[in-house]
Amino acid sequence: MIIAIDGTTASGKGTLARQVAQRYGLKRLDTGAIYRAVALALLDAGADPADQATAAAAAQALDLEAIDEDRIRSGPVGAAASVVAAHPGVRAALLEAQRRFAAHPDGAVLDGRDIGTVVCPGADVKLFVVADLSVRAARRWKELTDRGESRTLEEVAADIAARDKRDAERPSAPTARAPDAHLLDTTALSIEAMAAAACRIIDAVLQT
Ligand code: C5P
Repeated sequence: MIIAIDGTTASGKGTLARQVAQRYGLKRLDTGAIYRAVALALLDAGADPADQATAAAAAQALDLEAIDEDRIRSGPVGAAASVVAAHPGVRAALLEAQRRFAAHPDGAVLDGRDIGTVVCPGADVKLFVVADLSVRAARRWKELTDRGESRTLEEVAADIAARDKRDAERPSAPTARAPDAHLLDTTALSIEAMAAAACRIIDAVLQT
């Protein structure tokens, strides 16, 4: 069973993907982490994330096993990831690895922006996760503050809005809800309620 979870920035899709993977005994791929890792490699090398050729080369050279899970979570890396992810050459370089992961005989849970539309258009279950900007900003602000980054709520909200716009308006694999994706609005949902709502959708699909 392949479960595709897409959605906007800080909508809760990562947390949801972890919960769903555990509940159904599937492996999970956080595809945002891959774009973040490419961005981090570029920033560490002093390269410009907007330079498509350099970014595509970094994507080709990326070792998925060697991603620094802590450093990729910083605010600047998230912003650079969104710039890097707009390059078609970067997306092409990362596509096969994502599809290989999804091809595991048991299936997999993948979360990102284009899983249901581009990476796994034939996924068994597709979810598209959204939440109001104010709620998403508060969640991301807490994450960044817990990491020791000093940012105002307004700055974080502006970053998220800019990232969503760039991700949704890029020509190559923009953030999009597949026609057969179930919409899940997590604005007013606790983590438990969000996971329960997703499992109801998944169980209903499994029974058909
Ligand atoms: O989900 P996360 O915030 O970690 O993703 C970082 C960035 O990676 C996103 O803003 C988006 O630009 C990019 N991304 C993407 N396609 C995916 C997953 C993430 O373009 N499937």
